[in-house]
Amino acid sequence: MKFTYYGHSCFSVEIKGKAILFDPFITYNELAKNVNIETIPADYIFISHGHQDHIADAVSIAKRTGATCVANFEVATWLNKNGVEKTLPLNQGGPINFDFGTVRGTNAVHSSGLPDGSYGGNPLGFLFTTEEGNFYFAGDTALTMDMQLIPVWANINFAVLPIGGHFTMDAADALKAAEFTKTNTVIGVHYDTFGFIKIDKSAVTELFKAEGKNILLPAIGETITIN
Ligand code: NI
Ligand code: MN
Repeated sequence: MKFTYYGHSCFSVEIKGKAILFDPFITYNELAKNVNIETIPADYIFISHGHQDHIADAVSIAKRTGATCVANFEVATWLNKNGVEKTLPLNQGGPINFDFGTVRGTNAVHSSGLPDGSYGGNPLGFLFTTEEGNFYFAGDTALTMDMQLIPVWANINFAVLPIGGHFTMDAADALKAAEFTKTNTVIGVHYDTFGFIKIDKSAVTELFKAEGKNILLPAIGETITIN
């Protein structure tokens, strides 16, 4: 599966020829200033929760691409109010069938207020099961026992986990999340963007290596292939 990192928690995967974008936050991310937002493809935009650092560019990208935005009911309704025509609301549960595979909304232990202060519902993670591979994106969350449900539903090829700490799991808890979800491959996100969440990348890499796990930290703008 092709995975492209756009900084913070924003990334895309390509499945069955569909471009699936997650948590677009590029315009206000100093570290992502070399990413050209106008050329990012999207057939779907999945949004884990209402916080600005996950939704800031969702409306503009959805309007340009005509992508369907998938988010919890409150976030989906807010996107409609802000001019996004195609939305699909979900919540914890599923699975929901798409043309690229199925998706479950999973628990995230976090908050979800929208940028204008309106109520953003529950924060979510997403579990994708597809013919081209399975993965789990935790969204913004602390470590939670609920992650032990992931392998009940699917054998995942990789997990996309926040590692910056402070507002979410840090790398040590992401390592435990890798154990809970029974994966050896983690892609780290939600780090270095602002002061609270700066990390030492080499220390994090060593931490995972010592437990026989692999953490991938692609550069912003980089595309990698994960099997
Ligand atoms: Ni958040
Ligand atoms: Mn966040």
